[in-house]
Amino acid sequence: MTDPLARFPRFTLAHLPTPLTEMTRLRAALAARMDRTPPRLFIKRDDCTGLAGGGNKTRKLEFLIGDALAKGCDTVVTTGALQSNHARQTAAAAAAAGLRCVLVLFDSVPYAGHAYRGSGNLLLDRILGADIRVEPADADAGAVFTRIMDEIEAGGGKPYLVPVGGSNAVGSLGYAAAYLEIADGLDARGIGAARIVHASSSGGTQAGLVAGRMLRGAGPSIAGVNVYRADNDAMAAGILALAAKTTALLGIAAPGPDAVVLDGAHLGARYGMPTADMKAAVECLAREEGVLLDPVYTGKGMAGFMAQVQAGAHNDVEALVFLHTGGMPGLFAYEGEF
Ligand SMILES: Cc1ncc(COP(=O)(O)O)c(C=O)c1O
Repeated sequence: MTDPLARFPRFTLAHLPTPLTEMTRLRAALAARMDRTPPRLFIKRDDCTGLAGGGNKTRKLEFLIGDALAKGCDTVVTTGALQSNHARQTAAAAAAAGLRCVLVLFDSVPYAGHAYRGSGNLLLDRILGADIRVEPADADAGAVFTRIMDEIEAGGGKPYLVPVGGSNAVGSLGYAAAYLEIADGLDARGIGAARIVHASSSGGTQAGLVAGRMLRGAGPSIAGVNVYRADNDAMAAGILALAAKTTALLGIAAPGPDAVVLDGAHLGARYGMPTADMKAAVECLAREEGVLLDPVYTGKGMAGFMAQVQAGAHNDVEALVFLHTGGMPGLFAYEGEF
């Protein structure tokens, strides 16, 4: 089969394919808490995409930076919270492509830990040479972006705006491609019915996976764990709309309304604020499998994954894949939690 993504501009950044490995010790640990053996458990190591600490944004940025270069842009502008993994990965991708990078970081997470405002991803953003603009949580985002885009153009530059999380149809192509890679990895192991579980936030990862499933026509189902919005239904609707934009870009049929499954039980008080089950999940995976998660996304995602497994929610499949979307530098910003 010819590569359905080959016609899109792409700038190579990621080490692919990322490993797909079995978590036998986690499975045994969960089985000991249950009255039956759970499905086989795998982890897809997208924390190992290889770009300045790795993570899911690398796959999206291959297409976004490819698009920026194709359009002749010289400055990438993006946004997120102070500890945004997306911002760190964008700074690294821009550096690798020889582009300037402006990060507009909103001070929107009321986390008081002393390292939050200087260490973790922020430290790496500085080392990567990004032009960092910190804005208060209540700043008018539209006005801020207009000002920065005008400023770049006034200086003779050509800006390329990457939305929060790299989550538009172009960025989501990275996860349509990732879906094909995961499905091929399961096929190569002779695994039939399977499901992918992952942390979902700005939605491009899940939308891309859903689009990838439409592209392939069959394969593992997808279940997101909401780590971002209190309104779970609105977030699921947004992901479905983005998946439809992604399939439109691919020129294939849109997914049906049931394609987006989103667990809203593990967000806690709000985005970026630690929960007890996140901390337990981070420590459990570290101690059972030697794999480090992060406090904002994958820790809550894994908390959902483990709770779902223990509740028997995935007894209908042979294997579950936890998609590790990265974020490990965030642990240093939350050092007081562990
Ligand atoms: C480590 C990590 N995992 C998961 C996500 C969620 O991905 P998405 O924003 O595509 O939903 C993010 C997004 O910032 C992330 O940094």
